[in-house]
Amino acid sequence: MTTQTKETPPSGESLRAPLPTELLHRDDAFTPPPALTATAERSPITRSTLPGGDPFWLVTGYEEGRALLADLRFSADRFQYHPRFKELPEELREQLRNDKARAGSFINMDPPDHTRYRKLLTGQFTLRRMRQLTARIEEIVTERIDAMLAGGNTADLVSEFAIPVPTLVMCELLGVRYSDREEFQRSTASLLRMDLPVKEALANVEAQREFMQRLVADKRDNPSDDMISGLIHHAGADPALTEDELINIANLLLIAGHETTANMLGLGTFALLRHPEQLAALRADPSRMGDAVEELLRYLSIVHTGIFRFAREDVELGGERLPAGSTVVVSLVAANRDGQHWPTPELLDVGRPRAPHLAFGHGVHQCLGQQLARVEMTVAYGELLRRLPNLRLAVPPEEIPLRNDMLTYGVYSLPVTWDAP
Ligand code: HEM
Repeated sequence: MTTQTKETPPSGESLRAPLPTELLHRDDAFTPPPALTATAERSPITRSTLPGGDPFWLVTGYEEGRALLADLRFSADRFQYHPRFKELPEELREQLRNDKARAGSFINMDPPDHTRYRKLLTGQFTLRRMRQLTARIEEIVTERIDAMLAGGNTADLVSEFAIPVPTLVMCELLGVRYSDREEFQRSTASLLRMDLPVKEALANVEAQREFMQRLVADKRDNPSDDMISGLIHHAGADPALTEDELINIANLLLIAGHETTANMLGLGTFALLRHPEQLAALRADPSRMGDAVEELLRYLSIVHTGIFRFAREDVELGGERLPAGSTVVVSLVAANRDGQHWPTPELLDVGRPRAPHLAFGHGVHQCLGQQLARVEMTVAYGELLRRLPNLRLAVPPEEIPLRNDMLTYGVYSLPVTWDAP
């Protein structure tokens, strides 16, 4: 059984969580950091300080967070507004903004630039493509569980299931050839490793970009029924998307969609195993899985660093006046457990009536891949419970290593065992 280790030093700084440690570190896997809870209890919006010493506003209230994410007076353009970039000379900032590595990376853009890319991408998530992907997700999940069963009755659920499933789904979405999938799996897995020297980690990022470059070139000459081919040949983009835009969009889909889903699969399974009564309710009535997925998204809120935005003008929010240029972070963990909004928010309750949560964000940047992620989770949790009899942890829960210091929260490994069927 192979497990991901948690050894430092870190590889890419960019993957490291950019918030004060006390707002991220947990003693217990499913209890938010005490400092975050204490801040949220005092006020829905609080002035605080980023690790580099810059001030920021932390939004912990559900209503305030939702309102802010829908408010276009706040920008998502960190290259223009983030304190780390703001202090650079204008010339250098301009260079950064026009860097070819950023072309088309619409998660950091505001309307109208954002709108153009978002429309092109939304047009690619057709009903037909979603149906095809759902069928493939079912096959991929089945194959991974077959492999786990063939290997005995113990496995690291993270390296053997939670990471490979979304990687293979990404291969389907992007149209990675079967002959290239091993390389793709290797390179995406290495992007998630934190035990590599910086040089090696940067080389991995470059190799990933080169892979995408080859993929885009291949799709230009040999279109197939995938999203990259769709963007090149059928999206009706005017002007047509450039090479750099296509490469970066493919990378954005991978980065936004892969690590998040992998962590939801690992941490979500851990959460269910730690809440046997919820697990029993799901086993007794698998039709509850849709509700359970929404509840797990709310309860776990794995994008635990929250969402960064920047005030373009002076704004009043939650009784506070935020001056133009302020950095604001919406804590999804706190907002999704706001006691003013959710009854008994600290409880995982798969029978909770569905209500909009902020785990996928809100507003114009709300997660583009959320329907796909929901299908992956529904099929994956459902089949794990159905096919692995008496699935349980293989080690004491305190031994499960937590991804406290990463952009997305989760577990580094999850040793599990089950009864031989
Ligand atoms: C459970 C899994 C997932 C979670 C928790 C998640 C969470 C999020 C969140 C919180 C945002 C908002 C970011 C912001 O406002 O700055 C976002 C945006 C985004 N997500 Fe996801 N995501 C997941 C899966 C996926 C998948 C599977 C894909 C792609 C196939 C994807 C693609 C994207 C993209 C492209 C954006 C940027 C949208 C935009 O800027 O308009 N995500 N996601």
